[in-house]
Amino acid sequence: MDYLQIKGKEKLNGSIKISGAKNAALPLLASTILSKNRISIKNVPNVRDINTLLKLLSNLGSNYTFKNNVLDIDSTAISSTMANYEIVKTMRASILTLGPLLSTYGHCEVSLPGGCAIGQRPIDLHLKALELMGADIEIKQGYVVARAKNGLRGATIIFDKITVTGSENIIMAAALAKGKTRMVNVAKEPEVVQLCEVLQKAGVKMDGIGTDELVINGTDREKLDMKDFSVIPDRIEAGTYLCAGAITNSEITIKSIIPEHLEAIFMKLEEMGFSLEIKEDSVTLKPAKKIRACDIITSEYPGFPTDMQAQFMALMTQAEGVSMVEERLFENRFMHVSELQRMGASIMLRGNSATIQGKIKLYGADVMATDLRASSALILAGLVAEGVTKVHRIYHLDRGYENLEKKFQDIGGDIIRLKE
Ligand code: EPZ
Repeated sequence: MDYLQIKGKEKLNGSIKISGAKNAALPLLASTILSKNRISIKNVPNVRDINTLLKLLSNLGSNYTFKNNVLDIDSTAISSTMANYEIVKTMRASILTLGPLLSTYGHCEVSLPGGCAIGQRPIDLHLKALELMGADIEIKQGYVVARAKNGLRGATIIFDKITVTGSENIIMAAALAKGKTRMVNVAKEPEVVQLCEVLQKAGVKMDGIGTDELVINGTDREKLDMKDFSVIPDRIEAGTYLCAGAITNSEITIKSIIPEHLEAIFMKLEEMGFSLEIKEDSVTLKPAKKIRACDIITSEYPGFPTDMQAQFMALMTQAEGVSMVEERLFENRFMHVSELQRMGASIMLRGNSATIQGKIKLYGADVMATDLRASSALILAGLVAEGVTKVHRIYHLDRGYENLEKKFQDIGGDIIRLKE
């Protein structure tokens, strides 16, 4: 297995270009099941999760070429509607095939994704909503067996909790349902918004895009005329590299971003004493005179993203004073804490809250990646720690960060990938 070796050093500098958003591309790839034509998608990140979903789609009958971040895909001739456990177990977002398969073909079997390191991550809200739309749902030997022989019908769905992939599954199901679907308490993440915009351009009538109430008029199983498009930039990748500049108190520039998607992250960095030069599609972080402690509570967009919580916790170890983090979305998203403590961080956990004492000197150590974003926090800590840090099990990182070590090297990070 590969691991990353990072040598802590003083300052970073330089600029990097952000890749397409993994969490936008995943539902958009699944939505090609709804299309009556082949389409070309630009700015698709070449990361493990994308390649896993492409493998699943080709098992279902899709044909595609994927080169230089351009994906030409034809999902018009699906020959199977069974998403098997072998693939789904490696990537829970495979559940995003459930909505499109069911609304297009009237039946499908999708393996239950199972939990993961950050929490149990149920899909009860996905299933409840599909039942409201007329689906028969059974759980058999670890599979969701869904049927809607006369197609899905529009319904009013009020989500008990805001769920990103739950919203995306129902948006794709509603696109081909018969009649109107009204979704209340729907997710507003930029990745959900892009899915809505792509489907709207493909002929689905929609109102309320980007708000917490969405109304979709389905085509009654008439496939969509999807148009080519480019995936939006990855706001979490951008936030991660901004934190690399911040933790080493350096000046770096991040290019190819949509600034409004990063507002909550910008606010927190400015609260901590950094200044930001924000342009149309780039941002330059300027060093802080003194990095100040701050408090973070994770919430759904446009609040502070849970996917940036671990990275900020690493940064908080270098802030003067006591910082607080409250994780409100997942029940176990503090896996990075024990690894940061092994590097010398002073962090106290109480339930879903963490208290971080700063400014603390960190020391390089062998650490273990556990989930995608926690792993990136360990790299950030390694950039500023004294000595050498080795981050093991970096397959977690390869799921969502394209050209990871090259990008860190491009901003001056002393980081190389080695074999165990
Ligand atoms: C998406 O996961 C993202 N993944 C996650 O990013 C992200 O952390 C999360 O949204 C929150 O923003 C993708 O988009 C592929 P949720 P998702 O359904 O959709 C509970 C990364 O790092 N819930 O919004 O699975 C759930 O347990 C990943 O790229 C139910 O109770 O998250 C959680 O507590 C990690 N029942 C909360 O809702 C359901 O049916 C939010 O989960 C669904 C969700």
